[in-house]
Amino acid sequence: MMTNCPSNSCTENKKHLIEEINRLRKEKNCLILAHYYQRSELQDVADYVGDSLALAQWAAKTDADMIVVCGVHFMGETAKILCPDKKVLVPDANAGCSLADSCPVNEFAKFVKENKGYTVISYVNTSAAVKAYTDVVVTSTNARQIVESFPENEKIIFGPDRNLGNYINSITGRNMKLWNGACHVHEQFSVEKILALKKKYPQAEILAHPECKQVLLQMANKIGSTAALLKYAVSSDKKQFIVATESGILHEMQKQCPDKEFIPAPPEDAACACNECNYMRLNTLEKLYECLLNETPEITVDKDIAEKALIPIRRMLDISARLGL
Ligand code: 13P
Ligand code: SF4
Repeated sequence: MMTNCPSNSCTENKKHLIEEINRLRKEKNCLILAHYYQRSELQDVADYVGDSLALAQWAAKTDADMIVVCGVHFMGETAKILCPDKKVLVPDANAGCSLADSCPVNEFAKFVKENKGYTVISYVNTSAAVKAYTDVVVTSTNARQIVESFPENEKIIFGPDRNLGNYINSITGRNMKLWNGACHVHEQFSVEKILALKKKYPQAEILAHPECKQVLLQMANKIGSTAALLKYAVSSDKKQFIVATESGILHEMQKQCPDKEFIPAPPEDAACACNECNYMRLNTLEKLYECLLNETPEITVDKDIAEKALIPIRRMLDISARLGL
């Protein structure tokens, strides 16, 4: 197990792993994608690092033979659905998502059935089976624009994130019916601790992901997807930011803005000052190496489900391309 041990043997071990990863990715013509919430060493070794939308866009256009998604299961599924003929791997098969888990397919299917005549919009953080019941998939980067691409009187079901759904309702004036799901990481931020940080750093701006609770979003200077928060931090003339999303994003923020200070927003009940997604953190450099070497764990999606789920994913990519997202 890799730690932050600074000893020579650890550094040598890490160097060796990276060399082996580079050899294998070349040999196997493999694309390595990483989400911003991944451990920094995985972000550093990936071909591309991005938000959920970017990961899907890169997967959709690659000519690699194999894709490793350093992220969570639904991200691997999305890549597999877009590239059914390629081998798609994730370093740790247990890297799930509490938000996707808050939306079991049978219950969602019942919700859809009870609301006949409604357009079904699902956040990308869902299983392939839920996507198969969906008209169009969204990510936090394009949710607003995709919702607004429907007529104002369109009857819409939105799932599974109640916080993102409430936020989109509030900025679009829509009244989408919401699934009652949430992410355990984004719901954990402590308003009191963030207010204390704000006292300590009065000049700092608060950046928040829309999966956070409404009370926190009301305090934020900028609300957006990981990519949107990063872009805002890069272009802002401010020097300090309190970041209320998974702390992995701080790696790229710090890389792109070496002269700025990023302070992770703390969760309610942890000794740690930052908020990490235990699923995202399951992936490690060793597991990436083993996954490339053994070509496992492989993501598979039932053919019928994959064909149905591809339609709303493609629709999302097409609308995003039209909007230049
Ligand atoms: P984005 O990278 O699309 O903002 O998503 C955040 C997230 O929770 C991924 O699991
Ligand atoms: Fe899922 Fe939340 Fe982890 Fe993102 S941060 S992968 S939404 S559990």
